[in-house]
Amino acid sequence: MSSIMGWKQQQHHLLSKIANSDGHSEDSLYFDGWKAYDKDPYHPTQNPNGVIQMGLAENQLCFDLIEDWTKRHPEASICTAEGIKGFKDIATFQDYHGLLTFRKAVANFMGKVRGGRVTFDPDRIVMSGGATGAQELLAFCLADPGDAFLVPSPYYPAFDRDLRWRTGVQLFPVICESSNNFKITMAALEDAYRKAQEANVRVKGLLITNPSNPLGTVLDRDTLKSLVRFINQKNIHLVCDEIYAATVFNHPNFISISEIINEEDISCNRDLIHLVYSLSKDMGLPGFRVGIVYSYNDAVVNCGRKMSSFGLVSSQTQYLLASMLSDNEFVERLIEESGKRLATRHKVFTAKLLEVGITCLKSNAGLFCWMDLRPLLKESTVEAEMALWRVIIDEVKLNVSPGSSFHCTEPGWFRVCFANMDSETMEVALQRIQSFVRKPKEAAEVPVAVKAKPLRNNLRLSFTRTRSRRFEEFVMSPHLISPHSPLVSART
Ligand SMILES: Cc1ncc(COP(=O)(O)O)c(C=O)c1O
Repeated sequence: MSSIMGWKQQQHHLLSKIANSDGHSEDSLYFDGWKAYDKDPYHPTQNPNGVIQMGLAENQLCFDLIEDWTKRHPEASICTAEGIKGFKDIATFQDYHGLLTFRKAVANFMGKVRGGRVTFDPDRIVMSGGATGAQELLAFCLADPGDAFLVPSPYYPAFDRDLRWRTGVQLFPVICESSNNFKITMAALEDAYRKAQEANVRVKGLLITNPSNPLGTVLDRDTLKSLVRFINQKNIHLVCDEIYAATVFNHPNFISISEIINEEDISCNRDLIHLVYSLSKDMGLPGFRVGIVYSYNDAVVNCGRKMSSFGLVSSQTQYLLASMLSDNEFVERLIEESGKRLATRHKVFTAKLLEVGITCLKSNAGLFCWMDLRPLLKESTVEAEMALWRVIIDEVKLNVSPGSSFHCTEPGWFRVCFANMDSETMEVALQRIQSFVRKPKEAAEVPVAVKAKPLRNNLRLSFTRTRSRRFEEFVMSPHLISPHSPLVSART
């Protein structure tokens, strides 16, 4: 033990501040759910009582279409008999501008995903390693260490890693509340801005995710316009993460920031507007690590392109995707079919939850639901949320994500993903949730008798000492989920 401590101390002196910091936070308590899944993964026949992974925002519903296209186009890969003639050129290509055919195809895809209402210039497409790399690249271009971005909460937990860890940038949450369906209000924005100023922190930008992870909602036109006015008035940047753009499966339609800045009644300094995109969600290809920065600011495009040398997309991947994404018929069918399948999943999932009285925030996008388990909490505290979360992992055997990991200020919300599994597994997950909620109260871990609303109150959990200790550990350490941890060999 002491030799480990000694070794750690020695490393501390040998390594940089970044290497010694825990800005990546893969030791966070939130990893427990991932570890539980990793140790005991569900399999329908080999491990039917294992943990089902519902913490992974992956889109696996249209793989058949992508696989089918790949089979029908062997020439699109340089590693087939049909495509081998391109092997040498592509294997040696490493220009950080990227293949023009790839940039054109991505620009075309981005336009199609936005319903053809807007076009994108291939010369503004800057590559990076996923949206993860794109966010960091932008933070490096727009802010100095100590500067801050405002981020409406609840927000994607790994922003704390992606924007802060290596750049030294800070994030200030803009608190959104369930009382108005977590909408971003001007009052909350002004409040977050003021708090940063009071702390003597320079605000360099506002970062929004539209459609939202974890809410699965889209921003309406008026809100988008008010955000554009806000950032122009303050002269700060607006970074729009639109990586869930094609996951919108129901009305209202998705409106991109790129449409808003074209509208006549809005006056906007375009140098302040930047998009982050990736093929991880809309295409379901997170392993390809295709991330995009699309900036309307020439200097950012210029600098970002140079920086992209640190996170290029492999030219083999560019080559394949250039071909796939310029097949308009395929792309249109994929987008349409993906929307239909997501809509069906969402409908079945939320209806089954409702059968046992569980509601979700009304949503029309994303790969997840924002599930309201507030009635199951013993009290409205993060401590009680963590207690319920442990029961869901250990007893219900589902890895879901607690709202506190998304910086949600109201305990009791959970994000639950539904597109990273087949429908049979989803059925099993739903049965588990249903029987957990229907379970007689003595079977629930440490129930508390409450008179009103018997069904839900049966499930109210009391807080054990072990959990209390867990909570202390949790509040003492920075909160962050790292979706790409090598430790858990899992993704988002
Ligand atoms: C809002 C948001 N931005 C960025 C990312 C990272 O995506 P990528 O896999 O392209 O790095 C995710 C992944 O879940 C996300 O939800």
